[in-house]
Amino acid sequence: MFEILQRQPQFQVIDNGLLVRAPAKINLSLLVAGRRPDGYHQLKTVMAKVSFYDLLWIRRTDRPGIALTCSGPCWSPAGPDNLVLKAAMGFARAFGIADGLQITLEKHIPAGSGLGSGSSDAAATLLGLSRLFGPVNTSLVNGLAEQLGSDVPFFLAGPISLCTGRGEIVQCIQEQFSFIALLIVPQIHCSTSQVYANYRHDQQAYDRLDTLISTCLRMGRVDEMCNLDANMLASSCLSLSSELTVLKKRVEQLIGHVSLSGSGSAMFKVFRTDAEDKVKACCELISKEVGCTSVVVHSNDW
Ligand code: C5P
Repeated sequence: MFEILQRQPQFQVIDNGLLVRAPAKINLSLLVAGRRPDGYHQLKTVMAKVSFYDLLWIRRTDRPGIALTCSGPCWSPAGPDNLVLKAAMGFARAFGIADGLQITLEKHIPAGSGLGSGSSDAAATLLGLSRLFGPVNTSLVNGLAEQLGSDVPFFLAGPISLCTGRGEIVQCIQEQFSFIALLIVPQIHCSTSQVYANYRHDQQAYDRLDTLISTCLRMGRVDEMCNLDANMLASSCLSLSSELTVLKKRVEQLIGHVSLSGSGSAMFKVFRTDAEDKVKACCELISKEVGCTSVVVHSNDW
């Protein structure tokens, strides 16, 4: 059996509040230019949102303060470590909001999978609260997003963007690029900070890929970029997890080359929108032979 996840709207009005969808992202390319004096790594990455969503139910209540409940098939921290709570507290402080809020996070995108999970939840919180309490100063919201994490500003914009700096400088890619993708989500948690700490810079690889990717961007050929398998964090991630290395090999024996998203562990393969039968067949094969979660997703249009 395979699951095809259709595009859904970003916001829906509910009783006393708003339902906000927080999409997963995949890195169509991820170049690392080296480690910076502040410890972060300088990036040049093209990220795309896909139709695989966490759900955030935000309701006003009479009870003062902000309460968070976590539900859904995937785990996320229930306390103050949750980026949703951090985002909501930061928003309330920045805009002087004292209303009581009950937020329920329905978690479907696993953390530690390179799909942007927690960062997307944080951005969805900021976007939802901006809708409920807005209009608000968007540069203040962007500032909050940057503090919450390098990927969070991307999720405020999109759906496909070139992100530079440590990831927080976001430039929307105007070319329309619709795709379907097979997403393989193993139950393996990869720590982003560990994958970066284990990264060994290869300037030659960077220069070679940078030339190719710059050409793709200049020509408006994001589709061509997907064939380059340009993820410079992949070897670091795979060297930390032999389980993932074995799994990726097994997947590739069955369906050909797949790329890693971000710092892993999720893998993906991009297809043209008219190749639905092909992507379904790959998805079915992976579910049957490998037994890990695999879904068909669409590129997001927001
Ligand atoms: O920014 P964020 O909190 O999401 O980053 C998590 C960790 O990933 C950082 O603490 C850092 O170790 C690593 N990182 C990095 N360079 C980046 C982004 C993240 O080294 N550009």
